[in-house]
Amino acid sequence: MRLAGLELEQHAEVYPPAEDSELLLAALDLLDIGPGDAACDVGTGSGLLGLRMAARGARVVAIDINPHAARLARANAARNRLGMAVVQGSLLAPVRGPFDVVTFNPPYLPVQGETRGELPQAWEGGAGGIGWARLFLAGLQRVLGAGGRGLVLLSSLGDQEAFVALALERGLMAVPVAQRKLAWEELQVWRITRSNL
Ligand SMILES: C[S@@+](CC[C@H](N)C(=O)[O-])C[C@H]1O[C@@H](n2cnc3c(N)ncnc32)[C@H](O)[C@@H]1O
Repeated sequence: MRLAGLELEQHAEVYPPAEDSELLLAALDLLDIGPGDAACDVGTGSGLLGLRMAARGARVVAIDINPHAARLARANAARNRLGMAVVQGSLLAPVRGPFDVVTFNPPYLPVQGETRGELPQAWEGGAGGIGWARLFLAGLQRVLGAGGRGLVLLSSLGDQEAFVALALERGLMAVPVAQRKLAWEELQVWRITRSNL
């Protein structure tokens, strides 16, 4: 598929860009990202968001827990002749930062029980759809540079209030910056910054 000026191959075990990816992409395009910026795309999938930042000149590292996604994102970087480091790993554990921008389109649907299989990891977000949030926000607090911005997408089906409260506990402030209504939910992009700035 062709999206945002990028040629993106797909894989049966990797989440393909969808409405959520496009909403996060639109919010990302509002940020002034350019050469010299350090960026990280967590849960990169096909590599869309990371490659978009690389195309604007940022130094990008992309992370995904799904080994098929890590391979696909690498192949898509080569296909678009863009430099992007891709690491298979969980959340922000593989990186040290500091980053100017961190993006995460997470698995955000509320699901009870353990996720089995690589593809369902793309949408099964645990209790309240934010099972990953505590660890992610701890990682974000560690790697976000002074003046850095995080962009995270959540759904009205998930517990967004709890997410905002968890961020505050970490000294991070989450503000909604983009919304899109779908038939059964509303997607929302949250911009996260250090609250002491
Ligand atoms: C909703 S998809 C988003 C994919 C892509 N960023 C996009 O916007 O099209 C969520 C992605 O997060 C990845 N993921 C899930 N849990 C993760 C974790 N703990 N660490 C890193 N990536 C994870 C999934 O494998 C999947 O590729």
